[in-house]
Amino acid sequence: MSAINSYCIGQFVLNTFRNYQHSEFNFHNRNHIIYGENGMGKTNILEGISMLSAGRGLRSATTEEIIKQGYESSGVLGKITSQLGEYDLNLSVDFSFESNSYKKKYFLDGSPLKNKNLLDYYLSCIWLIPQMDNFFLQDSSSKRKFIDRLIFNFDKSHLTRLNEHDKLIRERNKILSGGSLNGKWLDLIEEKLVEITVPLVVSRLDFIHSLNEFTAVDEKYPLHLSFAGEIEDLLREHTYSLKVENILKESIKENRRNDLIMGQSNTSANKSKLVCKFITTGQGAENSSTGEQKMMLISIITSFIKLLQNTKQISPILLLDEFNVHLDKNNTEYVINKILQFGSQVFITTTHQEIFTDFKEKFEFLQIN
Ligand SMILES: Nc1ncnc2c1ncn2[C@@H]1O[C@H](COP(=O)(O)OP(=O)(O)OP(=O)(O)O)[C@@H](O)[C@H]1O
Ligand SMILES: [Mg+2]
Repeated sequence: MSAINSYCIGQFVLNTFRNYQHSEFNFHNRNHIIYGENGMGKTNILEGISMLSAGRGLRSATTEEIIKQGYESSGVLGKITSQLGEYDLNLSVDFSFESNSYKKKYFLDGSPLKNKNLLDYYLSCIWLIPQMDNFFLQDSSSKRKFIDRLIFNFDKSHLTRLNEHDKLIRERNKILSGGSLNGKWLDLIEEKLVEITVPLVVSRLDFIHSLNEFTAVDEKYPLHLSFAGEIEDLLREHTYSLKVENILKESIKENRRNDLIMGQSNTSANKSKLVCKFITTGQGAENSSTGEQKMMLISIITSFIKLLQNTKQISPILLLDEFNVHLDKNNTEYVINKILQFGSQVFITTTHQEIFTDFKEKFEFLQIN
């Protein structure tokens, strides 16, 4: 197995970003506890780091939101070390008169990065934010999307296939609501829909299966994840997915009238429900306490990192915003010990730095005021 590609951020600069005017940090290849009172800018630092990786960062902010109020532009710069060497990643947000909107531009060692997909190679970050605390109480669509985003890290085509699947469903609904319950075009759309649905469900099941190898061996809270749904049941029943496709092609045709009345397609990859249970007690996530749910979520994320390390040889930077909220002392320590084993660079924010005094050798403490 080749060496693991660990990402590390050293020098870090925020310019007119959120509440920062111009601030420079030197993270010295270490793990960090960022502490300070409410509203000082702790989460903003994590957000700044996350903005250097692909996507909209840990707050899913719009381009305008990150610019310091009263200013017209914003910049984030990080000196990154990885297997690719040492390089500067720079995000700059400016107003474009051409498009009459704020635009994000990325630079690598000062040169514009034309293809944003390349960012995946230059920085990888995983985060846990307080907004994710109610993960298990969300509707099944949000939970499914979360797992889909994790799969996307392994297989970029997963998102393309999901978009194609949703487009076919919309097209079928449109034909049905137009009053046409028969026709070659409808047959063709349903055929394509089934042929895209089954592999999507299979790739989710494969991913969960791989993740379970790690969630199941957690010493304190071994977990089992699964997806429940009609297609999942069929896939369990029949060895060949081609057989499942044939069954679904028949049933989707039979269900046309029913789907028209219901206003939705019953044969769809959007029906799968994520089920998460403690292996030892069989207790489901929905019936677990707030702290237990948080431990489940942390287990999913840490298992995902192990999977990334094992299969893609990538070790992302970990951004943990107030991760210990809802956790007792034992669980807080348990999680810290677990994440320190990864060898990834870790940033933790807290309003209570005293919780981490037992770990003062392992972290550098940075006060924000
Ligand atoms: N675009 C912006 N311009 C100026 N200030 C902003 C902007 N966006 C956010 N802020 C301010 O940044 C401040 C710090 O926010 P941040 O969320 O980083 O605080 P925090 O230290 O994490 O606080 P807490 O402990 O409550 O989580 C807030 O007071 C917020 O109003
Ligand atoms: Mg915060």
